[in-house]
Amino acid sequence: MSIYIIEHLEPKIWEWCLIEYKNISKIVGKNNLWFTNIKEKSKALKELSKHGKIITKSVKDLNLKNACVLDPEAKKTLSSKEAKKFDFFIFGGILGDYPPKKRTKSELTTHLKKAKARNLGKCQFSTDNAVFVTKQIILGKELSKMKFINELTIKINDIESTILPFCYPIINKKPLISKELIKYLKSH
Ligand SMILES: C[S@@+](CC[C@H](N)C(=O)[O-])C[C@H]1O[C@@H](n2cnc3c(N)ncnc32)[C@H](O)[C@@H]1O
Repeated sequence: MSIYIIEHLEPKIWEWCLIEYKNISKIVGKNNLWFTNIKEKSKALKELSKHGKIITKSVKDLNLKNACVLDPEAKKTLSSKEAKKFDFFIFGGILGDYPPKKRTKSELTTHLKKAKARNLGKCQFSTDNAVFVTKQIILGKELSKMKFINELTIKINDIESTILPFCYPIINKKPLISKELIKYLKSH
């Protein structure tokens, strides 16, 4: 059984982070999910603790063996054959930025000397979609067999819309994004 680890790297558990983290729990199940580097004590933390294991320490201090860190800057792409052999998959709890600041590499991969770094292609996924894609690869579907779009426009009302310049898997002909995030975007 694979364990998915989200190393929280934002200064706060922002509402947007919480929405993504809760969605990750739905994707992989709370028993397979660890949130590391959680230093704050807040209402958000109380909520988060219902959706996975909370660890105050950074994943960098857990000394895990047989781990894979998902990093857009990694040289090799994760394959199904290899994915089945890892015990831990580590992701940056980092909100998307454009152009990407390569924070996964500088804040995570560089410090995880024992972990193997792998990419999920060249474009940037949200953390929840990166977890979704990784789970598909573990289940045997190669990245090259999945379909994506490079940006998503969310209609806020008749006049305004928001463009999310990230990659979204196409599932049942629709881009994969949580209903809760759409609700959040429409109300902010
Ligand atoms: C929104 S991304 C953060 C990207 C950030 N802009 C950066 O520069 O690293 C959140 C996390 O999803 C995972 N991720 C997203 N896209 C990826 C890709 N193409 N390959 C591997 N991991 C990816 C990484 O673990 C990353 O830390």
